[in-house]
Amino acid sequence: MLSTVYSAGLFGIDGYVVTVECNSQKRKQSFEIVGLPDTAVKEAKERVRGACDNGGMKFPPLAHTVNLAPADKRKEGAGFDLAIVIGILRNAGYIKPEVDLSKSVFIGELSLSGQLRPVRGCLSMCSAADKQGFDTFYVPRANAPEVTVIPGVKVFAIDNVAQLVNHINGTKLQPPAFVLPQKDTPGRSYGVDFIDVKGQYQAKRAMEIAAAGGHNILLIGPPGTGKSMLAKRLPTIMPKMSFDESIETTKIHSISGLLDERDALIIVRPFRSPHHTMSSAGLVGGGANPMPGEISLAHNGVLFLDEFTEFPKQVTDALRQPLEDRKVTITRSAGRVTYPCSFMLVAAMNPCRCGYYGHPTRPCTCRPDDVKRYISKISGPLLDRMDIQIELPSVSYEELSRPDPLAEKSEVIRERVKRGRMFSKARMEEDGFTCNAELSPAMVRKYCVLTDKAQEYLKEAYDVLGLSARGYDRLLRVARTIADLDELEVINDEHIAEAINYRKLDKKYWNY
Ligand SMILES: Nc1ncnc2c1ncn2[C@@H]1O[C@H](COP(=O)(O)OP(=O)(O)O)[C@@H](O)[C@H]1O
Ligand SMILES: [Mg+2]
Repeated sequence: MLSTVYSAGLFGIDGYVVTVECNSQKRKQSFEIVGLPDTAVKEAKERVRGACDNGGMKFPPLAHTVNLAPADKRKEGAGFDLAIVIGILRNAGYIKPEVDLSKSVFIGELSLSGQLRPVRGCLSMCSAADKQGFDTFYVPRANAPEVTVIPGVKVFAIDNVAQLVNHINGTKLQPPAFVLPQKDTPGRSYGVDFIDVKGQYQAKRAMEIAAAGGHNILLIGPPGTGKSMLAKRLPTIMPKMSFDESIETTKIHSISGLLDERDALIIVRPFRSPHHTMSSAGLVGGGANPMPGEISLAHNGVLFLDEFTEFPKQVTDALRQPLEDRKVTITRSAGRVTYPCSFMLVAAMNPCRCGYYGHPTRPCTCRPDDVKRYISKISGPLLDRMDIQIELPSVSYEELSRPDPLAEKSEVIRERVKRGRMFSKARMEEDGFTCNAELSPAMVRKYCVLTDKAQEYLKEAYDVLGLSARGYDRLLRVARTIADLDELEVINDEHIAEAINYRKLDKKYWNY
C-alpha cells in the first residue's frame, strides 16, 4: 500500500513543498526514512510510533518506508512528523480511502503521546504551498494564527493525531481557525508617543525626516537628553506596514520562534534594541545553529544600538554590508541561506567618556586625546552610513517640569511622514525601491534635481566638509526627502542647507 501526503520544509526565509511517500508492506516489521533527513527527521520514527500507540491507534506492524522528496534538499527538524503519521495511518486503513488529501498540507512535530508541538517557520512553509495550489493546512494550534493570514485557504488548528483523524474522516469536524484582524494605532500599539518628549525640536524634525526617507540616524548628546526616548518612538511615526511587509517580518519572527501565539501577523514595525554585549552572530545572524540575527528581526522596522561606542568595532563593522544590501547571507552546513534585513538604524552615544564634551555649562573632564579616541571607536565607513547625525542639547529643568505646548502626537507627525512618502511614491514605483535611503547612485543623479542656488551651495559645502563620494550621495538623498516633505520636485538651497546641518558632526567630532 502506498500513500502520498504533503508537508513542507524551510530553507532560509522560504518554504518548499515536501512530498511524503509512505510505502507499507506486509513483511517483517521495519521503519525507514529516506530522502536526506537530518537526525531530527530520523527520530520521527520513534515519535510516530509513540504517537500512534498512545493516541489510541495501534502502530501498524508492517514494513514502512518513507521517502521525502525532493531528495536533493536536506530535510531538517521535526515538522514532517504529522505528514508521516497520516501516511502510515492511511496505509493501515485508519483513514477512509475516499478522502482526498491531494490539496492538503500537514505540518507539526509529534510528542510521544500524540500531541502536536509547534514548529518554526510555519507561515513561510504554508505560503510556499499556497503558491503551488494547496488550499488546506493542518498545523499545530500555536501555529494556526500565523497561517490564517494567507488569503483564501482553510487552516485547521490541531491538538493531537486522533482529533485530526476524526476530522479528515468526517466523524468529528473541527472548525477552521479564525483570527480577528488587528489594528495599528501608534499610542496603543507601542505604548509610547512623541508627545512625551519635551523640547528637542531639531531632533524631532530629524526623526521625522529619517522616518520619511528611511534614513539611518545617529543621536549624540549628554546623558538624559532623551536619546533613548526618541529612538523608541521612531516606529510610531513610520508609515504602517504594508501587508507584504507584515508577512515578511512575520516569517522571520516565525522562523526564530519568537511569534506571539495570540497574534496572527506582526502589524507594528519591530523595534529591536540589542545590548552592546551581543556577539556579531547574534546581531547579523549565524552561529552554530544559524538563526536570523537582530538585524533581520528588525526587518521593516528599527534597530536601535544604544551606547553605540560600547559595541566592539568588529561587531558594528559587521553591519556595514547588510546595511548596503538590505539582506544578509549566512553560511551553514546545509548551504547558504539569505535573510532580508531592511531596517532603519538608530544609534545613540555620548559625545565622550564623561558625556559632557561640548556641553554649555557642565565641564568635560576628558582630555582632548581621549575625546578623539572615544569617537574614533566608530569607523569612518560606518559613520558615512549614518545619513542623519544630530546633536541633542541638554534640556533645562524648567523645560522638563512644565508641559510643552509645541509637542505633537505621533499620529500628527506620522501623517506628515505619510504625505512625504506619498509624494515620492510614483518615482519609487517606477524604479522599484521603497524609500529614498535606498536610491542607487544612478537614481540619485536622476531624481535629485537641484536649483542653481542649491547647486552652488552644495559645491561649497562639499569642499568645506570634505565629504566622501558616498557621503555626498547620502546628503543628496536626505535633501530629496526634505524636498518630498515640502512636496517639491526640485531640491532648493534650503533643503540642501538643512541636509548639510545633519552631517556637521563629521566635521565637529571626527576631524578636529
Ligand atoms: N526631552 C525630554 N522630554 C521629556 N523627558 C525627558 C527628556 N529628556 C530626558 N527626559 C527624561 O529623562 C529620562 C532619561 O532619558 P533618556 O531618553 O534615557 O536619555 P538618554 O538616552 O539621552 O540618556 C527619560 O526617561 C525622561 O524621563
Ligand atoms: Mg539612553
